[in-house]
Amino acid sequence: MKVLLTGGTGYIGSHTAIELIKLGYEVEIMDNLFNSKITVLDKIEEITGVKPKFYKVDLLDKEGMDKMFGEGGYDLVIHFAGLKAVGESVEKPLKYYENNVGGTINLLECMKKHGVNKIVFSSSATVYGDQGVAELTEEMQTGVGITNPYGETKHVIEEILKDVAEAEPDFEATILRYFNPVGAHPSGLIGEDPNDIPNNLMPIIMKVSTGEIEKLKVYGDDYDTPDGTGIRDYIHVVDLAKGHVAAIEKMKPGVSIYNLGTGKGTSVLEMVAAFEKASGKKLPYEIVGRRAGDLAEIFANPSKAEKELDWKTELTIEDAMNDTINYLEHLAKK
Ligand code: WQD
Repeated sequence: MKVLLTGGTGYIGSHTAIELIKLGYEVEIMDNLFNSKITVLDKIEEITGVKPKFYKVDLLDKEGMDKMFGEGGYDLVIHFAGLKAVGESVEKPLKYYENNVGGTINLLECMKKHGVNKIVFSSSATVYGDQGVAELTEEMQTGVGITNPYGETKHVIEEILKDVAEAEPDFEATILRYFNPVGAHPSGLIGEDPNDIPNNLMPIIMKVSTGEIEKLKVYGDDYDTPDGTGIRDYIHVVDLAKGHVAAIEKMKPGVSIYNLGTGKGTSVLEMVAAFEKASGKKLPYEIVGRRAGDLAEIFANPSKAEKELDWKTELTIEDAMNDTINYLEHLAKK
C-alpha cells in the first residue's frame, strides 16, 4: 500500500513514517517545512534504510498538490499537516481557518480528482471542549466549549469528513483524536523539535533542561486534583505512531473515530518529577496563575481503539522521559 503523509516531517508524522516503512508500506511525504526540518528525512533513512520521496508542498498550493497526486498513485493519505499553536490561533484565527480548514478542503478535492478515497485525519482531544468530566469517550458531543480557533479547525475538519462520507459511499475516513503526545524515537535521532516557540509542556521542559528557557511556569496549582496541577493523558509518540498503522489496517467506508491515549492521567508536577528522575537533575519551575482555557483534568477512554483496532499503548511516562533525554543528548552532540 502506498501512503502519502501530509506534514510527514513533523513530530508525529516522522515517527509514523518509520513505523509504516518498518512494515513494508511505501511512504511519501509532503510538507511545507514551516514547523519541521528536511533533515528529518535523513534520520528516517538512518533508522529504516529508506528515504521517503519528499515533496515541499503547502496545503494551499493546489497546483503543487495536483502534480504530486498525479505522480503519486496513493492508496491512502494520513493528514498530519496543519498549524497547531493554540495561543497563536487566538491571535490569528483567519490564518488557522485558511490553512487548516481551507488546506484540508484543497487536499480532499485533490484526493477526489485522483481517485484516492481513504484518509486518516490527525485530530485532537481539544474537539471535546469542556465535557464537565475528565474521561473522554468518542460518542460524546464535540464542538461545544472549545476555547481556541485551533481546536475549532480540528472540529470543523471532522465535520467536513463526516459530510463527505455522507455524500460519497466509497469514502473511508478515520479520525484519530490525540491526547498529549510526548517522547521521542528510542534511537534518539528524531523527536519533538519545533521551529516555533513551544506552547506544550514537554517541549518547554526540554528547553528548560537545556537552559534555553530559565524555568518552567506551572500554570496553576489550585485545580481540584491531587497535587493541584493540571492532569493530562500523555501518550508516547511511538505508541501514537503505531495507532496510525493499526488504523490504516482497519479502514472501512464511512467515518470511524478513535481516541489515542493511555487512559491514565498524569499531573504537571508528576511530569516534572518523572523528568527529574530520568535526567538525574532538578528542573527549575515556578507556580504561576492558571492559563486561560485550561481544564483541570482530561484523559482518554481508549477502549474503542483497543477493541476495534486491536491497539493499545505499551510505553510509559518513564519510557517517554528516558527517550526524550536520549534525544536531547543526541541533539547536544550535533
Ligand atoms: C499540558 C498541561 C498546562 C505548559 C494542547 C492542545 C491540544 C494538543 C496538546 C495538539 C496543562 C500545563 C503547559 C507550561 C504548564 N495539541 N502547562 N506550563 O493544553 O493539554 O493540549 O496540546 O493537538 O490540542 O490543546 O497541552 O502541553 O499545553 O498543557 O503548566 O508551560 O501542562 O496547564 O495542564 P494541552 P499542554
